[in-house]
Amino acid sequence: MSTSPTWKRFAAVAVASIASLSLAACGAGGGAASDAESDSGAGEGGLIKVGYSQLGAESGWRTANTESVKASLTEENGIELTFVDAQQKQENQIKALRDFVAQDVDVIAFSPVIETGWDEVLQEIKDAGIPVVLVDRSVKTSVEDAYVTHIGSDMASEGKAAGEWVKANFPDAKIFELQGTMGSGPQIDREAAFDEVVGTDKILGKASGNFTRAEGKTAMEAALQAYPDMDLVFSHNDDMGLGAIEAIEAAGKVPGVDIKIVTIDAVRDGLQALVDKKFNYVVECNPVFGEQLAELVKKVAAGEKVPEKTVVEDKTFDQSITQADVDARLY
Ligand code: AHR
Repeated sequence: MSTSPTWKRFAAVAVASIASLSLAACGAGGGAASDAESDSGAGEGGLIKVGYSQLGAESGWRTANTESVKASLTEENGIELTFVDAQQKQENQIKALRDFVAQDVDVIAFSPVIETGWDEVLQEIKDAGIPVVLVDRSVKTSVEDAYVTHIGSDMASEGKAAGEWVKANFPDAKIFELQGTMGSGPQIDREAAFDEVVGTDKILGKASGNFTRAEGKTAMEAALQAYPDMDLVFSHNDDMGLGAIEAIEAAGKVPGVDIKIVTIDAVRDGLQALVDKKFNYVVECNPVFGEQLAELVKKVAAGEKVPEKTVVEDKTFDQSITQADVDARLY
């Protein structure tokens, strides 16, 4: 997939400018701009104007990802960033995206909270001729060439790696699965890949903890009642796994021993739980790709060709890691 031809961008920008003038005249389109946290100056001096819709701040992973994005999409790096946090609500993201169109940014980047429901706004962005860089999570859309490029981890590979470890080490495990936000790319892909490797007959039940520690704990409390035989939890992220530890301990059981825990992310708290032998295996989802994103954004703005997908490299960790490894972890 390549970037929009320059002529198309010029024509579309003209249309978008007229549209944003009429929106301004009607008093519309200004809400998110005032809500937005602008990390830059006036957008002068040849800076690339980037509108970034982050989906929320639900997890340690997301916090690290936001820090990486903000540290890399900087004026020093030639970018004027307008960053908006959607608080895990798709409607907030759609509003932010529309505001970016009204502001006539040069590039829109966003991490979609769920996969579907973006057709209308993606068509509007396309009509305005603004290139889209998809970050972290995937979308399913009927809009052709809705985005120029996608950077993020291979969520299916992560689920597969977790499943392969469980199959090799606990082939008879009775599994409970703590799912991420329902309908999100990582929930769908991790779950499908994990379930295929371990076999659906091994899974006693599933519930969503929405990728947060608090909801992970609540879901686990209910699961401990519903599935007293469970002896392994596959959690779609560290935060929900950490919530599960609290629920397991409150129920008088030993996490990592009575109930094994396999998670995805490898943030520092997650790796600490691994060193403490409360987690048994952690598959990394690396959030620190701000520099790669900034390079992509610059190429996209310049109309250069970019790869359709940039897969961020992930590792895996078992209980052989040391406290020094955890202490050296940047996030
Ligand atoms: O999309 C990446 C996932 O989103 C991370 O695994 C999770 O922690 C975050 O909330």
